[in-house]
Amino acid sequence: MRYFPVMTENKIQKIDPPVPVVQWVGDADTGCLRLLDQTLLPLETSFMDCRTAEQVHDAIKRLVVRGAPAIGVAAAYGMILACREMEKPRAAEYLESARPTAVNLSWAVRRVMAEAENPGQMLDLAREIHAQDERMCMSIGHNAAGLLEKHCENGGVLTHCNAGALATAGIGTATAGMYVAHSRGLRFTVYCDETRPLLQGSRLTAWELQKAGIEAVVLTDSMAGALLVSGRVGMVIVGADRIAANGDAANKIGTYGLAVLASRHDVPFYVAAPQSTFDLSLSDGGGIPIEMREGDEITRGFGRQTAPDGIGTWSPAFDVTPAELITAIVTDLGILSPVNEQGVRDLITCDPRR
Ligand code: MRU
Repeated sequence: MRYFPVMTENKIQKIDPPVPVVQWVGDADTGCLRLLDQTLLPLETSFMDCRTAEQVHDAIKRLVVRGAPAIGVAAAYGMILACREMEKPRAAEYLESARPTAVNLSWAVRRVMAEAENPGQMLDLAREIHAQDERMCMSIGHNAAGLLEKHCENGGVLTHCNAGALATAGIGTATAGMYVAHSRGLRFTVYCDETRPLLQGSRLTAWELQKAGIEAVVLTDSMAGALLVSGRVGMVIVGADRIAANGDAANKIGTYGLAVLASRHDVPFYVAAPQSTFDLSLSDGGGIPIEMREGDEITRGFGRQTAPDGIGTWSPAFDVTPAELITAIVTDLGILSPVNEQGVRDLITCDPRR
């Protein structure tokens, strides 16, 4: 078992995310939740204000706000709005039902439910969850930067979906090491899987990296095998929506296939995630609920019909990568390798704040 202990916060140089993804505007009694509308990127940077529980639920479901940690932060603020309309347990249940896979959603909602009584306390706690996520991203970044320095100098790194700043309150999880390594002067190319069907890789990851001056290249998901054969990438790094007690990790559909390919080509496969993404109540990934999405995201993506009328579809939003295919999990608490049940338990319980 290997841990590289997390750097203490005062040693970490802060890097700001390119755009605020989640914000609370105003006071606890009358304020609202402002979300960057990620469905409009990369063409438009605009914000949506949520003032009701239904608007928050809808924004999470439609992926206005998406990415496990960002969903958690949005839902923590969302609890303030939902509790204006309903009792706390009902509010928690309602928001949790928006999307099932990312455990950060229920983690944040349950924290607000257990630790805050009135709107003022809820706002303070939501702000703390927000700030904690930002700090966790920085810590992941400092832990992951060394991996990029080891595997990717003047070379490439492959990522899938968006586990970037747009998916968190900070500099992302899978991208965090990229931002930190880039700020230290390392030069590398990030290969961004397009990520069918909703294109988080090309619409979001490529957009935020380009904005930060990091060289990014987009490829379709089916090109990843050929990319690995080409020898252009020294490592793969992705995020996670939920990690079970044995280290099995759910992430955007296609991640599992990428892990199999990386293993076939002896390329290290890393998962980056904060402690809020671990779900120790599940012994393995078989118990992780997988969200199913509407078929028209495949057949009518972005306004154009690409399959015959009446055709059936199968559209899971996530898949589970078994621990044995994961070289290491990079967390805010340290780097876990090899990935197994004992290691996950030791890593997570070493944080007294949890
Ligand atoms: O459907 P999405 O866009 O919410 O899926 C996001 C992902 O799969 C991310 O990789 C994951 O949430 C980690 S975000 C730091």
